[in-house]
Amino acid sequence: MIAIEITESGTPEVLKPTERPVPTPSAGQVLIKVAAVGINRPDVMQRKGLYPPPPGASDIPGLEIAGTVAAIGENPTHLKEGDQVCALVTGGGYAEYCLASADLCLPIPKDMSLVEAAALPETFFTVWSNVFDRARLSAGETLLVHGGTSGIGTTAIQLSKAFDAKVFVTAGSEAKCQFCIELGADAAINYNERDFVEEIRQLTGGNGVNVILDMIGGDYFPRNLKCMAFDARLVQIALQRGQKSEIDLLPIMLKRLTVTGSTLRARETAFKADIAKNLLEQVWPLLDYGQIRPIIHTTFPLIEAAQAHALMESSQHIGKIILTV
Ligand SMILES: NC(=O)c1ccc[n+]([C@@H]2O[C@H](COP(=O)([O-])OP(=O)(O)OC[C@H]3O[C@@H](n4cnc5c(N)ncnc54)[C@H](OP(=O)(O)O)[C@@H]3O)[C@@H](O)[C@H]2O)c1
Repeated sequence: MIAIEITESGTPEVLKPTERPVPTPSAGQVLIKVAAVGINRPDVMQRKGLYPPPPGASDIPGLEIAGTVAAIGENPTHLKEGDQVCALVTGGGYAEYCLASADLCLPIPKDMSLVEAAALPETFFTVWSNVFDRARLSAGETLLVHGGTSGIGTTAIQLSKAFDAKVFVTAGSEAKCQFCIELGADAAINYNERDFVEEIRQLTGGNGVNVILDMIGGDYFPRNLKCMAFDARLVQIALQRGQKSEIDLLPIMLKRLTVTGSTLRARETAFKADIAKNLLEQVWPLLDYGQIRPIIHTTFPLIEAAQAHALMESSQHIGKIILTV
């Protein structure tokens, strides 16, 4: 089969087509004939050598796929050959065939294309696990999301609104802010023009927000603490502005703040299967009814993975970039 491999750490051009054997599913796994694969910023970091695959994962990039079940491993599963599914995978998605744990395969929502379905797993698992499980966002509370037009951000906006929370976002241009408002955000702050700490103070009448989903880190950390209400929760999921920060610890005590974070890829299958179950019960019906939908910026053929990565690094996209196979 054709796959895209990372020939060495570096710029997008290190992504090259190669021939690899079609993998064989082991117990609990299925082989999927891939129709579409979602690109995520962690793929870019893997390509740069900054996010190595966890032990046992394929060296081929690609964390989410949609396609057709082509073979089934030893254990019995709810799936059968010919089923169309989307799946969260630990790697191997940039290929014609990819292995997936049967427990991490979800049905294609009603009236949804395989391209759209390939955009679901990574951001829906991540946002559900961090915003709803870890940070316990509940109806009536307020969420601040940095990077509102990212794949993660567009999912967080829609999910928080669907579960009756208020959502504020930051983004790097007026056009991106406008898109977030149209998608449902209650306010969008252009971080290149305005100080988000001051804006959040005004938007919340000085009270602060209940949850922050942060993919920026670095100097955003002390500023995030200033935006947090009493008993608020900060979830760190990436560190685009660096992993070091100097902070005043006092607000953590005075406002009883919770600072947490996580990475999804290295977690065990059972943990991810729990998220899959919750998504199926609570979020898939919203996708079936069309109440929420993945935002697709554009698609590229698999062999143009390098161009797709270059686009992601330019940050001109809004929502997801997908490779078609
Ligand atoms: N922990 C986990 O398990 C996990 C899982 C998946 C993804 N992630 C992380 O989540 C992030 C989003 O992933 P993605 O695939 O959705 O990537 P993406 O679409 O490329 O999004 C990256 C976003 O960061 C925004 N950004 C950069 N600097 C910013 C700043 N100073 N303030 C506000 N926004 C800023 C960019 O928007 P502007 O153009 O507006 O700056 C862009 O929308 C990545 O950092 C990724 O590593 C973590």
